[in-house]
Amino acid sequence: LLLLFHNPFTNKPLIIAHRGASYYAIENSFEAYDLALAQGADYLEFDMQMTKDDVLVVEHDALPSYGDGRAIKDYLYAELQLLKRKNEFGISSILTLQEVLAKYPDKQLYIETKNRRDGVEATLLKELQIADRLNDETIIIQSFSEKSLRLLRMQNSSLQLFQLFTEEATSDLTVEKLQQVKQYANGIIVHQGAVTESLIQTAHDQHLKVHVYTINKPRAMKKLIKYGIDGIITDRPDILYAILYE
Ligand code: G3P
Ligand code: CA
Repeated sequence: LLLLFHNPFTNKPLIIAHRGASYYAIENSFEAYDLALAQGADYLEFDMQMTKDDVLVVEHDALPSYGDGRAIKDYLYAELQLLKRKNEFGISSILTLQEVLAKYPDKQLYIETKNRRDGVEATLLKELQIADRLNDETIIIQSFSEKSLRLLRMQNSSLQLFQLFTEEATSDLTVEKLQQVKQYANGIIVHQGAVTESLIQTAHDQHLKVHVYTINKPRAMKKLIKYGIDGIITDRPDILYAILYE
């Protein structure tokens, strides 16, 4: 548990690379993940969705701009394999969860169940088991969907689960709500626009870890570190690493 609270080797907040080092490289690509690790990231964050034929793929958008207007859930994996994600940083194929697990067998992963549909949790657990990472507490699973996290918790009591909150939901957080979250999750991920020092303290009083998304500016990083944050999700792991370690 200490491992998830802070970096166990340094007792400093975790550096969580948002879709890899996505400030510098095309998001959710091996290039972005490798760069994030080289820049000192503790965790690789990514979003995961399930195709029509139940393959877990790494993609943030429900309706990807490189596609033909269909949602990820309406594609067969074989069709996605033919497509490329493009932006100003480059071009990448659409990775599967299996490929990420195979490439980074000993790295800390921060997996989001995005735009969930029924069956995603069972498929995710199966993939983790095949990769021999089912009882690996260095894997964190996050979701805006309480249902997704509760289903995962019902199937596995040792998973590290974090509940994501939008900016509005972060502002509305109460002790009562945190007590409910504690029933199924190990921590919360709050929006940078609404997080306060007192919210972090209140969550800590409930023994919940607190991570925040998505911070790219040094001043905001420093403020949150002072507040006692346990992890910062960032597109720029290098900036956060420099603040924490240099
Ligand atoms: O996982 C934290 C953060 O990634 C949530 O926002 O839209 O980038 O997935 P989003
Ligand atoms: Ca995400």
